[in-house]
Amino acid sequence: MIQADSTFLVTGVTGMVAKRLVRELLKRGHTVHGVARYSSPGSREELDEMGVTTWKRDLSTDPVDDMPDYDYVLHQAVYWDKSKSGVEARRAVMDINAALAERVMQRWQNARAILLASTGGVCRESDELVDEDTPVQPNPDRQNYHLAKFAGEQIAVANSMLHGTPAVILRYYWPVDFDEIADRCVNAVAAGKPMPGADPEEPFRWTPIDLVDAVDYTIRSVEVADSPPAILCCGGPELVTRKKLTRTAADVLGVEPVFENPDDYHWESFLADSSRLYSRLGEPKRCLTEVVRETARQARDR
Ligand SMILES: NC(=O)c1ccc[n+]([C@@H]2O[C@H](COP(=O)([O-])OP(=O)(O)OC[C@H]3O[C@@H](n4cnc5c(N)ncnc54)[C@H](OP(=O)(O)O)[C@@H]3O)[C@@H](O)[C@H]2O)c1
Repeated sequence: MIQADSTFLVTGVTGMVAKRLVRELLKRGHTVHGVARYSSPGSREELDEMGVTTWKRDLSTDPVDDMPDYDYVLHQAVYWDKSKSGVEARRAVMDINAALAERVMQRWQNARAILLASTGGVCRESDELVDEDTPVQPNPDRQNYHLAKFAGEQIAVANSMLHGTPAVILRYYWPVDFDEIADRCVNAVAAGKPMPGADPEEPFRWTPIDLVDAVDYTIRSVEVADSPPAILCCGGPELVTRKKLTRTAADVLGVEPVFENPDDYHWESFLADSSRLYSRLGEPKRCLTEVVRETARQARDR
């Protein structure tokens, strides 16, 4: 069990998942430190105001010996610049992310546990459910991002075994805000339009996990850390498609659904079987179809 007054370091603390993570850690009574480069103006001040002790470092190069030890380290930082392309950009993604994993595992090897955030993209896009035993085949798309995440996993495994550090690797499958997806779906259906994607890379068929659940699993996953590390898929409880979500909202609103062409999507399917995670840490709380249904009900009754 994680004690209430434990100390946590969150790397990449300015990130999308990390910001939710620190809010929850503070709510649970923990002492929270965060490290990032604070490349967006105001991002450090925002975290300072929340009560996070902030460290400004490029974790791939800057010294970290003067930073404290922690009970737990949640390694969320990832380097990836979508605006860049070419060989140099691909090499930078590999080199920087490998350096991040290596330096975190080295410096905080005495932590009670280290969590490494990875991605379901270490396995191929697939129409079938993917689990921890599916052979990895990192997607070559996106500047080597998936390959770099797999390299990070290997570095974490090697360091955990070398130093005896308990570690856990979570392969996230689309940690997202279900309320945002439900609003996007219901608003489109009410306007007689097809449901748009959040960005061009959101798949047509996928197993997203609500951020509330992803954050809870991320924190509690340190309880199942081990050496060699446990690797766990971290996706949502149901396979959803835009078609199914659109139909769910249309049924409640009593309108004719309009569907987008699945061929318009960059990726068709990313599906996780996360039953191993659920068997160790319990079932997730939020189910996207139910959130869409409830959002549609509220829109209908307004
Ligand atoms: N979001 C997803 O759909 C998804 C899916 C699968 C896996 N994941 C994994 O989950 C983790 C969190 O994802 P996210 O989407 O929340 O990430 P994110 O928003 O891109 O945040 C990553 C943070 O890392 C920091 N960072 C980058 N390079 C750094 C460096 N050299 N030193 C220190 N900090 C650095 C950046 O902050 P500064 O610029 O301020 O340094 C950035 O805010 C990542 O490891 C990601 O690979 C995410």
